[in-house]
Amino acid sequence: MGKDVIIALDFPGQEQTLAFLDRFAGRKPYVKIGMELFYAAGPDIVRQVKARGHQVFLDLKLHDIPNTVRRAMASLSALDVDMCNLHAAGTVAMMEAALEGLTRPDGTRPLLLAVTQLTSTSEERMRDELWIDHPMDETVLHYTELAKRAGLDGVVCSPLEAGKVHQRCGSGFLTVTPGVRPVGGDVGDQVRVTTPAGAKALGSDYIVVGRPITQAEDPAAVWQRCVDDFVD
Ligand code: C5P
Repeated sequence: MGKDVIIALDFPGQEQTLAFLDRFAGRKPYVKIGMELFYAAGPDIVRQVKARGHQVFLDLKLHDIPNTVRRAMASLSALDVDMCNLHAAGTVAMMEAALEGLTRPDGTRPLLLAVTQLTSTSEERMRDELWIDHPMDETVLHYTELAKRAGLDGVVCSPLEAGKVHQRCGSGFLTVTPGVRPVGGDVGDQVRVTTPAGAKALGSDYIVVGRPITQAEDPAAVWQRCVDDFVD
């Protein structure tokens, strides 16, 4: 399981998404559908991308009362996604309910990952606004342990945190890591970045790469280079 490059399909609608995927000439990269595309194009975009043969990480970061999350996850599971996520801040009870909802009648289910603290949240804002007084890295590892206790499969984190997560929760606990830039790529608004080869060395299980592939002149070539550097 694992070791793959996931392309973030951060597009405003179905037309742009399918035109982008057409450029892969029969190859089927693992893709991530986030809030922008899902809220614009609806569940049908997931069905269409799955029908084309792609694996799908549905990145909707659920956070609500356990009963609502259980039922929402059952709907996502019926869409046959391969991976989805939620906020660990919803508590262990919410994460356990999510797993129940995701599990299909035949016992299979998509992988479920937790977001610990968003990378856009600074330690200062966490303290002043969320009233969490612990340092960021301790907070991230604490939320990671809660996710593990609830039975989840892993966390979304920075590649720079992947080693610590594995140390604390075991090498089988998955780390899915955005903030990856191919050598020489434009960093954009990502701050703490590493290359696909760097992420591999740090122990990431999956890397998420968006704009360096979606905005490239030849997306399939950039994706292939990421796969060569990260997987092989
Ligand atoms: O274009 P870029 O490679 O920066 O895209 C990264 C993707 O990963 C985006 O869809 C972004 O929302 C997502 N992401 C992230 N950092 C996180 C969690 C998700 O960049 N901590």
